[in-house]
Amino acid sequence: MGAPGDLQSHAPKIIKSAEGVNITDLEGHSTVDAVGGLWCVNLGYSNDVVKEAIAKQLYDLPYYSAFAGTSNPAAIEASYAVREFFEADGMTRVFFTSGGSDSVETALRLARQYHRLRGEPTRTKFLSLKKGYHGTHFGGASVNGNNRFRINYEPLLPGCFHLPSPYTYRNPFHETDPAQLAQNIAAAFEDEIAFQGANTIAAFIMEPIQGAGGVIVPDASFMGLMREICDRHGILLISDEVITGFGRTGDWSGARHWGVQPDMMTTAKGITSGYFPVGACLVGDKVAEVFEKDESGEAGIFHGYTYSAHPVGSAAVVACLAETTRLDLKTNAAARGTQLYEGVKKLAEKHDIIGDIRGGHGLMTGIELVSDKVAKTPMDMATMKKIHEATYQAGAMVRLGMHNILMSPPLTISEAEVDTILSALDAGFSAA
Ligand SMILES: Cc1ncc(COP(=O)(O)O)c(C=O)c1O
Repeated sequence: MGAPGDLQSHAPKIIKSAEGVNITDLEGHSTVDAVGGLWCVNLGYSNDVVKEAIAKQLYDLPYYSAFAGTSNPAAIEASYAVREFFEADGMTRVFFTSGGSDSVETALRLARQYHRLRGEPTRTKFLSLKKGYHGTHFGGASVNGNNRFRINYEPLLPGCFHLPSPYTYRNPFHETDPAQLAQNIAAAFEDEIAFQGANTIAAFIMEPIQGAGGVIVPDASFMGLMREICDRHGILLISDEVITGFGRTGDWSGARHWGVQPDMMTTAKGITSGYFPVGACLVGDKVAEVFEKDESGEAGIFHGYTYSAHPVGSAAVVACLAETTRLDLKTNAAARGTQLYEGVKKLAEKHDIIGDIRGGHGLMTGIELVSDKVAKTPMDMATMKKIHEATYQAGAMVRLGMHNILMSPPLTISEAEVDTILSALDAGFSAA
């Protein structure tokens, strides 16, 4: 995620230790980690319950394969824990992976196979949203909606088509009202389905709140509109919850935040709080039953990873979900997320370079910086880097996504630590 030449001329910050929500670099400088590792360290860095569960499992059974024919106790326990966590979302089966990209790849493959088993093998295409991020495997990159993750790796998977993002600050309809923009995208979805033919489309994948694309929060009606259109046309709805799962939005899943039940979910990150690389693709009964009740002999899922259902990862999942629930992380995410969002809105009264602020739904906040507010000219990279460094020196690590500042701190963060982020940002913007 960077140019090799740049890395040679600008050494990365070396993070050598962490405690609570703070990270410390090689020079001994400590800051609040407003990035949460990479939208993942939901429990903060000091959760001993998860660390001990990982250590113990290494001694009981450090590895065994979960390909057909074998499993392990930790994986069985983890699958029940994940299933229970997402029961309200209608998820009933769990397919473990090693991360988010793997989970997306799994969902896309299962979607195609589901339609084949149902006798509709022509349903192979995928629709998604511009500005969406679904990882870096070829399938995920093909449904990705950001040019920079695609262009150098083309040609990508054929049969992938993109709808406009629910991004009120910039969109092809010049529509600033989120509810109307949701209607416009729904109309574009219908139009694309009519053009492609519903019987060629396997699935529609979306993030409930777009993360890496700049924290783009849709209107509350948006995901429900997409659900209704998918249902009417026999298209599976995949909710990519790699960031939004496990409490980040202020609810246990992004889909639940919008009152929608998807057909499949893709998860990772918060499933272990980043302590061990694990992901999971979840499916509901509608999809599971087509596989489980198959009589054609074609329901073998010839897909899986060496580290799928890894016992150590599974032990991390069980401990992490127990801690996530015990600490009721979603409630703190909602309260601290509102504090961060409102605080950034206050900063915008002082700093003219703030063009758009997105968030207010849990601990995901995006700030789009511009050099000219009227023309909405994206801020240049040199200034972005200057702001980033000044913010870091003033006490908060934030993340740059082009000319956006992206924030997703641990869900355990305190009120005082959010204030530290806000004052560091104030110093950062003043340095622009
Ligand atoms: C929504 C979403 N999907 C998929 C991925 C890919 O996950 P990973 O980096 O674990 O492969 C990410 C990563 O940030 C993501 O945000």
